[in-house]
Amino acid sequence: GITRQYKFNIRLQNVTRLCQTKTILTVNGKFPGPRIIAREGDRVEIKVVNLVPNNVSMHWHGVRQLRSGWADGPAYITQCPIQTGQTYVYNFTITGQRGTLWWHAHISWLRATLYGPLIVLPKRNVPYPFAKPHKEVPILFGEWWNANTEAVINQSFVTGAGPNVSDAYTINGLPGPLYNICSPNETFKLKVKPGKTYLLRLINAALNDELFFRISNHSLTVVEADAAYVKPFRTEILVIGPGQTTNVLLRTKPNPPGNSSFLMAARPYFTGMGTFDNSTVAGILQYGIGNPSPKNLPVPILPPINATAFVANFSSKFRSLANSQFPANVPQTVQKRFFFTVGLGTNPCPKNQTCRGPTNTTKFTASMNNVSFILPTTALLQSYFTRRTNGVFTTNFPTTPLVQFNYTGTPPNNTMVMNGTKVVVLNFNTTVEVVLQDTSILGAESHPLHLHGYNFYVVGLGSGNFDPNKDPAKFNLVDPVERNTVSVPSGGWAAIRFQADNPGVWFMHCHFDVHLSWGLKMAWLVLDGKLPKQKLPPPPSDLPTC
Ligand code: C2O
Repeated sequence: GITRQYKFNIRLQNVTRLCQTKTILTVNGKFPGPRIIAREGDRVEIKVVNLVPNNVSMHWHGVRQLRSGWADGPAYITQCPIQTGQTYVYNFTITGQRGTLWWHAHISWLRATLYGPLIVLPKRNVPYPFAKPHKEVPILFGEWWNANTEAVINQSFVTGAGPNVSDAYTINGLPGPLYNICSPNETFKLKVKPGKTYLLRLINAALNDELFFRISNHSLTVVEADAAYVKPFRTEILVIGPGQTTNVLLRTKPNPPGNSSFLMAARPYFTGMGTFDNSTVAGILQYGIGNPSPKNLPVPILPPINATAFVANFSSKFRSLANSQFPANVPQTVQKRFFFTVGLGTNPCPKNQTCRGPTNTTKFTASMNNVSFILPTTALLQSYFTRRTNGVFTTNFPTTPLVQFNYTGTPPNNTMVMNGTKVVVLNFNTTVEVVLQDTSILGAESHPLHLHGYNFYVVGLGSGNFDPNKDPAKFNLVDPVERNTVSVPSGGWAAIRFQADNPGVWFMHCHFDVHLSWGLKMAWLVLDGKLPKQKLPPPPSDLPTC
């Protein structure tokens, strides 16, 4: 492989959306941010310069970071933030992956505007396992707030209530014709030629919403998810959770009449009990020339907002390609088993404060196994590497929930969770199985769970309470989908497996930023192996300090 160098200047930029101009954080003045392109096997060096008042940190979502945990980026997990005026060079090699990934800021809610595609092409002269597309187009879904997103999440911390929802969904940063927009440039347009195949690289960069997506009068063929090939399948409607990426082939019509145009649209799949942005972003798929008027085009019909059965059926269609060239290395046996609940909970309202949580004496929070994770004031990986862990974290993250109950039935009377900075220690190469169980502590809700540093295999998905006596017999250990983000079904469970072959500290969290902020997160500490090539190298000299 070769080395690809990028420079990311984090700087302020004025941007107009929904008829209002706002100053946002950008990379190099672009929104969405620039595209990173590399081939499998290449080394990527991104020099990030912080030219804004905020602390920043960048994450290369889905990149395995084999023995390069110092470049992973979640603030206070693998590194201290890059402070104003400081620079940090992220340096990693892309190993054993090809497909669509993305990058985003990984501190507070700054990823609302700091995100972009990270495209990994196959090695030179290695073809795709599908026909070569005429063109490749990244399509990023996002969320736009007229307000400052830092103020939005900070207000939620103060009141204990859910944060204000976004004002629009976006496609490649544009809200489209179904919103109040003041310029036709606020609509994403994909110009296509008849009878060709396009590879659409779909990325859900929205903060708090899973999305349905459809293009009127066109079906799509799914070929890849989270930078791992899947057995191709056709669908009219897609579901994509925040953090997930999906590559689809779009075959354009051979003989569309005249200057045909069609709308594409995305809107949320939502199962929680709070408020959400129930609006639709649309873009235009345009054959031919001219400026089609989107007002006359039919909006694609999408499932109802809480179509959980539709989502379950869609999720069940994903299978690893699992052929001789791209085998599925599913751990067939498991050395460590975990059962983690994922869901909301409450914290007491501080005495001198007025709260608007589930009750006025409580604040909303979120937890795994009833532990709401508190970020330390220094980075876990630095503290582990320098053996200064006292007062930073403890290694007693529970292997089963602290509070036992019927997870999807009647909620418990006590919804309080404990706060802590707890990790699970794994020996190098341990084979791990985690059952992630949604809880109905404060309403059942789907959670897109993301693991850093690994891809995992989704060996099982189910509704209701996981049954350790019956469900494992139905696990798919042959061709389960390989992902970095799985949607734990609303009122259901997901079982994942991975092998801990990457030493370091690896974050696992809900990719809804509101739940991430509320503590639905934990970390794995994977110890070094015995051989030199099984150890995490020392940190780069420019690693930020806290
Ligand atoms: Cu896409 Cu921890 O992040």
